[in-house]
Amino acid sequence: VRLAVLVSGSGTNLQSLIDRSRQGFLNAEVVVVVSDRPGAYGLTRARDAGIHGHVVDYRSFMSGPLPAEPEEEVLDALDRRQRILKETDPSRRRSKLKRLVAAESAMIRILSAYRPDYICLAGFMRLLTPYFLDHWNREGDLRVINIHPALLPAFPGEHAYRDTFQYGCKLGGVTVHFVDEGEDTGPVIAQGAYPIWPYDDLERVERRGLQLEYEMYAQCVNWLAAGVLELEPTSSGRRRVII
Ligand code: GRF
Repeated sequence: VRLAVLVSGSGTNLQSLIDRSRQGFLNAEVVVVVSDRPGAYGLTRARDAGIHGHVVDYRSFMSGPLPAEPEEEVLDALDRRQRILKETDPSRRRSKLKRLVAAESAMIRILSAYRPDYICLAGFMRLLTPYFLDHWNREGDLRVINIHPALLPAFPGEHAYRDTFQYGCKLGGVTVHFVDEGEDTGPVIAQGAYPIWPYDDLERVERRGLQLEYEMYAQCVNWLAAGVLELEPTSSGRRRVII
């Protein structure tokens, strides 16, 4: 299958996907890399691997004149469904949503040209709106996945390694999940855990966790490629991933 990988930073998960794919351990190929930041090292990794890299510079979308699209009705519908923007002031929230949608439509334009089967977030530090997700999640299939360095629903958000470590947890974890309208809330595909010893520092914890991330991301992509994952509704309203 064809993977698009979205990055914001160093891109070691991207590197691991590229390496495993080329070594024959991944039944998938990274066909394009998109970053929200021009300086992301992940773009250099893509170039070194001969993979097309693109920048959608979110900063330029988040200021300046407000985009004309989407029209009010569409924006309303998106605003009712999204759960990522915390602004309580409706007009500020809607402006921000509009800007995010403009950035996302630029990403969709670029990504579509590569016909990806799945969009893999790998250290992509932006929140995606239902506008982006709807584009890929068609016919009931979820096609956007993320890796998060904690055992969700514990420690969502940007600083999961730090939060796990500072809490004093003696078990750290990794979650690979489908992306939905919330922040780190979508159906869980797989979780793994590793020990945190009393003498560890944050750096060692991160290094240990990242090794597990690389393995788990590859395993989950292989399941997607094999087409074995299914979503089962549960009585709680949440969907559960089963094989
Ligand atoms: C990883 O810990 C990933 O789980 C998190 O951001 C980090 C990205 O690392 N969402 P890298 O850019 O893949 O090296």
